[in-house]
Amino acid sequence: MSHIRACIFDLDGVLVDTAVYHYRAWKRLANELGFDFTEDDNEKLKGISRVQSLELILGWGGVEKTPAEKLELATRKNTWYVEMIQAMTPEEILPGAKEFLAEVKAAGLKSALGSASKNSGLILERTGLLSFFDVIIDGNVVSASKPDPQVFLKGAEALQIPPNQCVVFEDAVAGVEAARAGGMKVVGIGSPEILRDADVVVNGLSGFRVNMLDAM
Ligand code: BG6
Ligand code: MG
Repeated sequence: MSHIRACIFDLDGVLVDTAVYHYRAWKRLANELGFDFTEDDNEKLKGISRVQSLELILGWGGVEKTPAEKLELATRKNTWYVEMIQAMTPEEILPGAKEFLAEVKAAGLKSALGSASKNSGLILERTGLLSFFDVIIDGNVVSASKPDPQVFLKGAEALQIPPNQCVVFEDAVAGVEAARAGGMKVVGIGSPEILRDADVVVNGLSGFRVNMLDAM
């Protein structure tokens, strides 16, 4: 029997394929400002907040902006991003994610969302995933971004489960660090070369089963 009693899921890149939409929208913004950034750079944007992403991107382009201009740029990016996610369907749930969420529920484990996104409500609604969660913690209620553990600790607290009985599912380096800092186990979704600090790394949730948590 596993001692794990709760699963906390990152959203973008773990349950849904939105990482590509974030990338497209940021790339469009950078291009409008007259520069570009690589897919490697894009890895660094995963898991961090909208404002922090913008700061990094402006730094890469060597572009300086006033606070008011930054607000306008972040809003512009988000408008393009929301246009894309508004058209999302359940087809864009990543392979195996819905099945695993159902298995977690059937096994009597608790589920929380632990995302930096302020758009999580829209995405969960468009994809029909909302009903799988006992608790939603997202960018609208956290004040410190990953790698700070706040988002996951708030999730554990709301579920009333101690952090060491929670496992986090994450695709971002910053998110893996956040889970570790919160004293939680981590299943990395992606590549073991990138997610070096995860307890285990798989390339997606298809094929992942609740009984695999026993070994964690
Ligand atoms: C995270 C993404 O889930 O949410 C980041 O990995 C993104 O890339 C962050 O910047 C904030 O998202 P949003 O939807 O509030 O702009
Ligand atoms: Mg993510």
